[in-house]
Amino acid sequence: MTEQDFIPNTYAKEISSGKTSWKSPSNIALVKYWGKKEGQIPANPSISFTLDNCATTTNLNFSKLAKPIEDYSFDISLEGKVKEDFKPKIATFFKRIEKYLPFLKEYHFTIETSNSFPHSSGIASSASGMSALALCLMDIERQLNPLMSEGYFTQKASFLARLGSGSAARSIQGPIVQWGNHNDTEGSSDLIGIKYPYKVHEVFENYCDTILLVDKGQKQVSSTVGHDLMHNHPFANQRFDQAHENLTSLISIFASGDLNEFIKIVESEALTLHAMMMTSMPYFILMKPNTLEIINKIWAFREQSKTHVCFTLDAGANVHVLYPESEKSIIDQFIKNELVAYCENGQYICDQIGFGAKKA
Ligand code: PMV
Repeated sequence: MTEQDFIPNTYAKEISSGKTSWKSPSNIALVKYWGKKEGQIPANPSISFTLDNCATTTNLNFSKLAKPIEDYSFDISLEGKVKEDFKPKIATFFKRIEKYLPFLKEYHFTIETSNSFPHSSGIASSASGMSALALCLMDIERQLNPLMSEGYFTQKASFLARLGSGSAARSIQGPIVQWGNHNDTEGSSDLIGIKYPYKVHEVFENYCDTILLVDKGQKQVSSTVGHDLMHNHPFANQRFDQAHENLTSLISIFASGDLNEFIKIVESEALTLHAMMMTSMPYFILMKPNTLEIINKIWAFREQSKTHVCFTLDAGANVHVLYPESEKSIIDQFIKNELVAYCENGQYICDQIGFGAKKA
């Protein structure tokens, strides 16, 4: 597969106006993507659980302009409020994907978007937001080219989403998605996320993720800056090699359902991600004191209860608490009794592994 495969020939139909709507979930990485090359190519492969409840719904209305324009013509709103400040990001996205969607300059777009999770909860909406928009745009392309196969639709949606936000490439499908070339994973690609192709033990079915909202404020360092700091990072190469090795180890862990080994990889990946931040130049810390309090509580509870609760982190202070569905009642109780106190305003979100984006 190459980029060339996603450049369309002429379209079969002409359409003057229409609309489409997609709901796309967020995802939580188990092996983290941190560092990238030119063209949104990941420095290392990653794998994630697709989430279910945390999602973005985007409605896209489009109408043909009298003549194509140089810039892009669009309006964008979030939860009914016009968002002028989102425009530069969308314009950059359109510029990156224009080669693959030549109709972009021919239409005016009205983008209405809303998130299922509370606004400014510190939950990154870029994966769900960019994948929902990519799906809406692919839907237009499919209306122009009705013979498009389902496989091409899904692959190109992931390809476009990646150009919006790397991790968005992993939000099109579920329940487990891998993105980035990995020698031991057949079909893996730097260009798109693929559905994890090997055996997955039933213990991972309905795997739960309770997201503890430790700090709902704006992050001090964006992930764009964080990715950039992996260039010339003293530990970058060892880190990239480790991600490959962890993905290889996960193949047998997913097959056998060995949760003790699963936990070691997942927690080590989370701490390594943050260790990369702390050892960048300039260095920074996104964890908060309560992030560490929660991690210590989880370790103590796991030891004492002999359950398989573990944590992961994304690029922020919030904690994702992961556990098998069979342990849900005891771990829910633990979260309420011991962890909610560390959340900002006691807020947390109950989620679980999901099956990918849907037409809304
Ligand atoms: O998709 P981005 O550029 O916001 O990067 C996301 C990076 C992490 O969330 C920290 C890890 C990952 O693989 O999702």
